[in-house]
Amino acid sequence: MTVILDGRLLADKITQNLKEKTSSLKIKPKLAVIIAGDNPASLIYVKNKQKRAEEIGFESLVLPMPQDVSEENLLENIYILNEMKEVNAILVQLPLPNHINKFNVIEAIAPEKDVDCFSSRNAGKMLCGYQPYVLPCTPKGIIRLLDNYNIELEGRNVLVIGRSNIVGKPLSVMLQARNATVTAAHSKTRNLKDIALNSDIIISAAGCANLVTADFVREGAVIVDVGINRVNGKLTGDVDFSNVYPKASYITPVPGGVGPMTIAMLMENTFELYQIQNQN
Ligand code: GUN
Repeated sequence: MTVILDGRLLADKITQNLKEKTSSLKIKPKLAVIIAGDNPASLIYVKNKQKRAEEIGFESLVLPMPQDVSEENLLENIYILNEMKEVNAILVQLPLPNHINKFNVIEAIAPEKDVDCFSSRNAGKMLCGYQPYVLPCTPKGIIRLLDNYNIELEGRNVLVIGRSNIVGKPLSVMLQARNATVTAAHSKTRNLKDIALNSDIIISAAGCANLVTADFVREGAVIVDVGINRVNGKLTGDVDFSNVYPKASYITPVPGGVGPMTIAMLMENTFELYQIQNQN
């Protein structure tokens, strides 16, 4: 029997717990989100993040900026947020407009407020196995979801498809830290199907609808779908869900799998940064 990895259910539990912990706080955790331009998917993600933050009882501040905002203006706003004591967490929604150097922007965020763990200082700490302030939201959410269903990682063959700084790269590092045997595949990988067939766990973050088909999946494999694709107006992941489902032991749905976990981890990270900044 195949078990659905219900990210929505677990995310709701995590946010409920955060809500209870926040209710007793005099000063509330505050998340600031910068969004530049009008990428329709980004606008929806930011709205969802803001909604969740407010449901929990966090303060939230969204700074929308026009598509043609200058890099200088964006950086100045980050410097202001860095200095605002009441702002605990800063997120700059990616992707940014093409004329902006995203590395300059990410590096401008104060490391102790970098809620995504995207800056080189924080990501570097994670790579070296030191404790960064917080761990990146999507990889953290995926591992939390697998742990919640007691899915063993140690010694298992895990295929991560996609090598983005947001998901694939940090996820590969975090899985290795859990003693998984990780294959980091990407668009130039040869024989993806053979590697997939030798994998206990397949995590696809390629952004390519129907990339993982039933013939890629061995009986009893665990399938995690990070993809968010629109096909004929319908939201679909990277996995051919209906045909892969009968072969898998566990599988995430899209929507309702990894997506809600990412937002829950963003909220947890905001809370953790607040705690670190208010230790004394
Ligand atoms: N764009 C897509 N996913 C993310 C994320 O997790 N964080 C940020 N900042 N931008 C994103």
